[in-house]
Amino acid sequence: MTTAAVTSRVERLASSGIQLIPKEYVRLQEELTNMGNVFEEEKNNEGPQVPTIDLGDIEAEDEAVRERCRNELKKAAMEWGVMHLVNHGISNELINRVKVAGEAFFNSPVEEKEKYANDQASGNLQGYGSKLANSASGQLEWEDYFFHCAFPEDKRDLSIWPKTPEDYIPAASEYAKQLRGLATKILAVLSVGLGLEEGRLEKEVGGIEELILQMKINYYPKCPQPELALGVEAHTDVSSLTFILHNMVPGLQLFYEDKWITAKCVPNSIIMHIGDTIEILSNGKYKSILHRSLVNKDKVRISWAVFCEPPKEKIILKPLPETVSETEPPRYLPRTFAQHIDHKLFRKTGGAVEKNQSTEDNKSPEDNQPREDGKRS
Ligand SMILES: [Fe+2]
Repeated sequence: MTTAAVTSRVERLASSGIQLIPKEYVRLQEELTNMGNVFEEEKNNEGPQVPTIDLGDIEAEDEAVRERCRNELKKAAMEWGVMHLVNHGISNELINRVKVAGEAFFNSPVEEKEKYANDQASGNLQGYGSKLANSASGQLEWEDYFFHCAFPEDKRDLSIWPKTPEDYIPAASEYAKQLRGLATKILAVLSVGLGLEEGRLEKEVGGIEELILQMKINYYPKCPQPELALGVEAHTDVSSLTFILHNMVPGLQLFYEDKWITAKCVPNSIIMHIGDTIEILSNGKYKSILHRSLVNKDKVRISWAVFCEPPKEKIILKPLPETVSETEPPRYLPRTFAQHIDHKLFRKTGGAVEKNQSTEDNKSPEDNQPREDGKRS
């Protein structure tokens, strides 16, 4: 039996006219904190806000101007680990093409999308999918997705990418290529911010040959009981960097200073997360922030996440020697990227549900691991 045959698509469930969501989608009480109306939350200007970083001067000729821009990026990476990037150098026209193509694919009938169904049982996540229950409580998320490798070109399998609309492959290919360039610039700034050579972090995450960009389009249907469900449960990203576009429907929340903060929808921006990989390499100086996605009753939300991931086995991730000192001992044990993912999955399924917090005092290096599951979301 294929995965497609045993997996219910959230889109189908949502369009069936149900007023109450199935119990598998009802989250645990402890997860349902700060679950107000996300449209109201997005308008809330009180309290801390996700920083907006203008990258327009990242390569400015004037050193003072350039350094101001770079310092703001570094500061946001250290304090928040997430930010809205503006003037990032990727044209609005290209971004619109990516969004139009992705929306067109998801607007096609479920039967059409099922032709691309992935086979999670055999470990193949690429294609159209929905989360399978992976914990004792059997909880599910209110989303369907499309997942595929997008860069480098020789590691892609274009045969599994959406064939319609026709612009999907050209638009997503060009976007991934340009994001790869942006990732290099960001990693250079983050390297210098740690007192390293410009190219160091880029090399440590695999360089141009081995750093893999994975595209995941998240499709969150309208939900009749959004106060009980989550689009994506609380987690930190395992990647080095994650870049996210969305259709201007709010939903992303960040766990900052013990509180869930709703991200604003900033026009023409790309949201960027620092992932666990950079947190580990920097010995915790750059933060991988806990986050989740809310759903709502009124509007479909779509987001396009691109995860920049190191190779699974070839690199041992651990705090770089330059980030460690007598007063700052290593906070993470060495592990491959694959081990890091497995470890997080094990923590998730092998014991009680992790608390949504990241307090790091008085814990062993392993306890300092960011809290999340191993999936890319
Ligand atoms: Fe995420």
